Amino acid sequence: MNLDHLRHDFPVLQTTNRGKPVVYLDSAASAQKPKHVTQTLSNFYLQDYANIHRGIYELSERATRLYDDARKTAQQFIHAGHPDEIIFTSGTTEGINLIAQTFGRDQWQAGDEVIISEMEHHSNIVPWYLLKQQIGIELKIIPVDDAGNLDREVYQKLFSSRTKLVALTHVSNVLGTINPVKEMIAIAHANNVPVLLDGAQAVPHMPVDVQELDCDFYVFSSHKLYGPTGIGVLYAKKSLLDNMSPWQGGGDMIETVAFDHITFAKGAQKFEAGTPNIAGAIGLQAAIQYMQNIGMQHVYAHEQELLAYATPALLQIKGLRIIGEAKPKVGVISFVMDDIHPHDIGTVLDHEGIAVRAGHHCAMPLMERFKVPATVRVSFGIYNHAADIDKLIDALQLAKRLFQ
Ligand code: ALA
Repeated sequence: MNLDHLRHDFPVLQTTNRGKPVVYLDSAASAQKPKHVTQTLSNFYLQDYANIHRGIYELSERATRLYDDARKTAQQFIHAGHPDEIIFTSGTTEGINLIAQTFGRDQWQAGDEVIISEMEHHSNIVPWYLLKQQIGIELKIIPVDDAGNLDREVYQKLFSSRTKLVALTHVSNVLGTINPVKEMIAIAHANNVPVLLDGAQAVPHMPVDVQELDCDFYVFSSHKLYGPTGIGVLYAKKSLLDNMSPWQGGGDMIETVAFDHITFAKGAQKFEAGTPNIAGAIGLQAAIQYMQNIGMQHVYAHEQELLAYATPALLQIKGLRIIGEAKPKVGVISFVMDDIHPHDIGTVLDHEGIAVRAGHHCAMPLMERFKVPATVRVSFGIYNHAADIDKLIDALQLAKRLFQ
């Protein structure tokens, strides 16, 4: 992987933050965009733009073809069996809400149970809580140990005859833990329970093969994968999709409409009401192709090198404690420092040009579990290099001097 060459694909890395060269260490929140993605978007809007599935003219056919190709690219990227198993959503959050409000609300009753974990992002807690309020489901929670691993013994004991779904993050956005999802899916299936994986923090960092994992639903967002905002993917096994009723109603998701009888489109289209995010899908395709050119194995290896370089360097700083020491991890490091609030650390880093996230990271129950109000989170992307970590360490030493 030629890093110097690759960094030139991201013009933002040549800009400044508070007057200092930008050091972007917040890719878990959202990744920067390569020129390939922005140029693809621009070309689409300037040369190929029209609405899809509607026009009888060539331009619309071209746009439709590009949109359909984007679906195939997403399918191949996560190795789904069929393009009809790929629904374009606005992102991970919408994907989970869609499952809760169709698969869940349609097919479950009061007292049915969903297993989630203590390390979930709010987007994999709130949709289930809403369903609890709406129809009275129960939530069962897999605990997290001190290192940041899920407690697999407790997990096995959470299943009952009322369990309807396991909804689990593939990778923790706070701890970086890569959960042993394949094994956990096998356990769920042995109990006849399907599994939804939140792949928002996994897909940008490592190869993902939904058939090999045998998950039933998989969701991810484009914007963390170097693609545009406002678009994401919900993968669902066809056998499950075919039995789900539509979510939103509108144009494009129907076959025929009369006031007293409506029939719905088949496959993914049934779940994509209205004019979809056409440009978003095409931009996501460009991002996937960019990542495939690098190779997801190389992406993983590169970020593991950064993790191995940064972890001991951070631990050299007296009073710094890393929250999340599970193995394996992706390139995400959360930490706290004695006597300095994470927001103050974030402010010092910002003034040194360094972008990190400080706060509860949309994972308040996990903060509660580790008895911290917030953490500082550093997260790596393909464009980071060791020099970024050196600058981070220098800035943290500065924060220590300023606050002590
Ligand atoms: N889910 C994103 C994060 O973890 C926003 O920062």
